[in-house]
Amino acid sequence: MTDRYAVIGNPIAHSKSPRIHTLFAARTGQDLVYEAILGPQGGFADCATAFRAAGGRGLNVTVPFKQDAWVWADRLSTRAERAGAVNTLKLDEDGVLGDNTDGAGLVRDLETNLGCTLAGRRVLLLGAGGAARGVLAPLLAAGPAAVTIANRTPDKAAELALRFGDLGLCYGRSYDELAGERFDLLINATAAGLSGEVPPLPEGLLADAAWCYDMMYGDEPTAFVRWARAHGAAHAADGLGMLVEQAAEAFLIWRGVRPDTAPVLAALRGEG
Ligand code: ATR
Repeated sequence: MTDRYAVIGNPIAHSKSPRIHTLFAARTGQDLVYEAILGPQGGFADCATAFRAAGGRGLNVTVPFKQDAWVWADRLSTRAERAGAVNTLKLDEDGVLGDNTDGAGLVRDLETNLGCTLAGRRVLLLGAGGAARGVLAPLLAAGPAAVTIANRTPDKAAELALRFGDLGLCYGRSYDELAGERFDLLINATAAGLSGEVPPLPEGLLADAAWCYDMMYGDEPTAFVRWARAHGAAHAADGLGMLVEQAAEAFLIWRGVRPDTAPVLAALRGEG
């Protein structure tokens, strides 16, 4: 019988996950189907329970259900425990395993696809919400000189820096407090781009050969990618590669095979 997988979120109509996993399955010769499920607000657990009862083997979880999935899982991986959010659920005889592949996807896109080394770099992480928290542990594990977290509400940045401080040097700042500092890599994990905005950053943050990475993506260059280019960043990338890499990591958890991501990323870029 063909194994069933799905992504659950709200909204979900524009999710690229079914396309990505269908391409992975074709390329690795795995017999599976992958669909998109619109979860009703407040109805994650019922929806996921019904999918499991119908024989579903795994779920990807997206906005706004990642914390609900964290609660629903029977067991959590270490990285999901830390992230406080789950984006991948493995459903089998042993129960429900919750994992989070977002941070691994980000690090892999940066280091393997883009050639941006993290070790020893000064990293600035913009935002202190769920997206930032979800990637901090894998980011710190890559050995940067330090990760500075900046947020509109500075207390949330300070809280995150404290929570992850055992994994590496971590600072919490307001945007104003960044003035005079320089960074090798800026990562945008804020939701500002949803309204076409960029956080209010002081001038002069970019070191020579600096990278800018937007965890968001779109058919057109995102607001942060445009900001990066306008401010002379040597490299600017959006988060489509992270999306494909977090999916590959989920596919590995479910199927025991890591798909080759480069052709899939190229196909998605071509499809616009
Ligand atoms: P997500 O799960 O996408 O991280 P979230 O937990 O609601 O969503 O967090 C959104 C993040 O984007 C926060 O860091 C938020 O800043 P505040 O904590 O100060 O609210 C940030 N954000 C949203 N809109 C922004 C804007 N226009 N400018 C700067 N930061 C913004």
